[in-house]
Amino acid sequence: MTPGDEVVAEVEGLLKERRILVAVGGGIAAYKACEAVRLFVRAGAEVHVAMTRAAQEFVAPLTFQALSQRPVATDLLSPAEEQQIGHIGLADRAELVVVAPTTADLAARIRMGVADDIVTAALLATTAPVLLAPAMNVHMWEHPATRENWEVLRSRGYQQVGPDSGAMACGHTGDGRLAEPWDIVRAAARMLAPKDLAGRKVIVTAGPTREFFDPVRFVSNPSSGRMGYAIASAALARGAEVLLISGPVSLSAPADAELLPVETAAEMAQAVQERVEGADLVVMAAAVGDYRPQHVASHKLKKSPGAETVVFERTEDILVMLGAHFEDAPERPLLAGFAAETEHVVEHAREKLERKKVDAIVANFVGEGGAFGSDENEVVIVTREGTTTLKRASKERIAWQILDALVPRVVRR
Ligand SMILES: Cc1cc2nc3c(=O)[nH]c(=O)nc-3n(C[C@H](O)[C@H](O)[C@H](O)COP(=O)(O)O)c2cc1C
Repeated sequence: MTPGDEVVAEVEGLLKERRILVAVGGGIAAYKACEAVRLFVRAGAEVHVAMTRAAQEFVAPLTFQALSQRPVATDLLSPAEEQQIGHIGLADRAELVVVAPTTADLAARIRMGVADDIVTAALLATTAPVLLAPAMNVHMWEHPATRENWEVLRSRGYQQVGPDSGAMACGHTGDGRLAEPWDIVRAAARMLAPKDLAGRKVIVTAGPTREFFDPVRFVSNPSSGRMGYAIASAALARGAEVLLISGPVSLSAPADAELLPVETAAEMAQAVQERVEGADLVVMAAAVGDYRPQHVASHKLKKSPGAETVVFERTEDILVMLGAHFEDAPERPLLAGFAAETEHVVEHAREKLERKKVDAIVANFVGEGGAFGSDENEVVIVTREGTTTLKRASKERIAWQILDALVPRVVRR
């Protein structure tokens, strides 16, 4: 899957039939806005495009018309365009406005409340949230005038995605590249997400644990951490404050999450125990080792002929620990655990729900094409009220759906 495909799969539930106005500024990166429009349309959004006069020098409106499958607004003073949806129509219809690329000039004009073309007039007239995707030469971006404009825009509630850092068309290197189209689409989707976890504290555990039997060797599992990281991202987008307690993975943590890296099951248990007070939701998506070597050699074990025996002991079951800790507590977080199952998925999950005294078990099918290390997942959520089956989809999409199922139960507390 390309990054674009992945993001479309992740956000289509959030973007389907949502009305997005993409306002294109006159920068070299206007061509990347074409791809963003294509991805919005693929995710099911109703996309309208408005272009500044300068933008039309970089990309022809016909391209955006073909991609959005709608006429493109190019001229504020055109009798024909004003007869159709017009600048106020565009402004009123939009649930979200995405300005990509936001040029230095456009940022200055938006800041000043200028309304002398279709883009700035629509931006002044809209009450929808606005996402700005800046793109400009690094020195333009760093100029005090741009910095000041940007500060004012942010203080007015405009959201921002990018700029990325790297080589630019102008030959300079630094901050100022337009964010990748899929990052723009993801940021837009997050702005449209329900903020049903605002003010809530969410703890997510993710990834594998490592149980060492000498300083350089350990027993672990192939968990990539992707499911837990996707849940952390989804919770952030829904407004939560997120603590991500993670075993060793090769993913980068979502920018706004607090990351607490751990290595062993014991460290993970301790981290959860120390931080769980005050949490509203705990999602244990980590693949915590059930066993650890009874003895950890202080030096690297020497190779010797014949078999080597390592004796294992059980690690602490973190969910059981939490279930018991909060059993009679008047204020307790919603506790959700993951379970990897190969058969009798619902029966086993229900048994775990009762025995571990938790509120939800998300059962993974780990048979053929299983969840470990894969990009996709297929789960059943078992609660005392019943079961919800989520059919095979990207882990990002599954993460949203898991929260769809859990969040109403958190908020009711
Ligand atoms: C080849 C070329 C590339 C440009 N690229 C950018 C750019 O990436 N960012 C920017 O802020 N301005 C860029 N400019 C300058 C803008 O086109 C100019 O400021 C224009 O007035 C922007 O108009 P608009 O913001 O109304 O679309 C570029 C100009 C040229 C000729």
